[in-house]
Amino acid sequence: MGTATATAGGPQMQREPRRRTYLMCSPEHFAVEYVINPWMDTSVAVDAAAAVAQWERLRQTLVGLGHEVHTLNPQVGLPDMVFAANGAFVVDGVAYGARFKYPQRSAEAKSHQEFYETNPGWGFVAPTVVNEGEGDFAYLPDAHGGLILAGHGFRTETAAHAEAQEALGRPVVSLRLVDPAFYHLDVALAALDDANIVYYPEAFSPASRKVLAQLFPDAVVADEADARAFGINLVSDGRTVVLNTGSDALAAKLRAVGYETAQVDLSELKKGGGSVKCCVAELRH
Ligand code: ARG
Repeated sequence: MGTATATAGGPQMQREPRRRTYLMCSPEHFAVEYVINPWMDTSVAVDAAAAVAQWERLRQTLVGLGHEVHTLNPQVGLPDMVFAANGAFVVDGVAYGARFKYPQRSAEAKSHQEFYETNPGWGFVAPTVVNEGEGDFAYLPDAHGGLILAGHGFRTETAAHAEAQEALGRPVVSLRLVDPAFYHLDVALAALDDANIVYYPEAFSPASRKVLAQLFPDAVVADEADARAFGINLVSDGRTVVLNTGSDALAAKLRAVGYETAQVDLSELKKGGGSVKCCVAELRH
């Protein structure tokens, strides 16, 4: 949490970073071979080598900020495996495993499960219902004592929200996504630090907007252009927000309330319907 020196939440706010542990997977085998979200188009050429170079710059950016980055071995035949955020959701050292909605991605879950089962220090809870990991779950450790936000409507089933609460012992707030362009929570909402979020209200049902406004009165509100540029699909350590290039209005908004921004170009991965956050799972103890 930051320390207010003048206006709370204003530019004078000193934002404190916290060192993070992340899990990523190189897009060596990245391709758009099927269509499971409105951003994917199999007729658009994908340059996997360019995707790897962009991904490597993202990885270096996170390492350069002092964070620890683990990686999974990319598997042939799993072109979306680069979107590591979807493989599990980790809170307090426990990983609640993913169960993918579409068969094209279902085998990815096993690599994630193996990571948690073979690396000491992590618990693993197998899911019984469809949920796409951190794609549809966010965690705010300092909001209301530790709060999980969860999306449903396109991928993750509401039953998984209850299952995550039982697995992780933190209250889960269900939010309904209503726009297919924003089919995962993490393209419409992100944690900026331990207590605050940024979100695009129109991606949520009116009732869910009301819930978000009640819980996060100081949230940064993004506009449609920011959201469509995948600006909200960001990773923040509490001080530096890493987000896709082309989200300049959002980046300026974040700097105006005291965050630093680092913009990375993930144009190749956007062809799969994902950007920064989709590529990065956070491993939380
Ligand atoms: N092509 C992938 C899918 O539709 C993109 C996943 C993006 N990941 C995310 N966390 N939003 O499943």
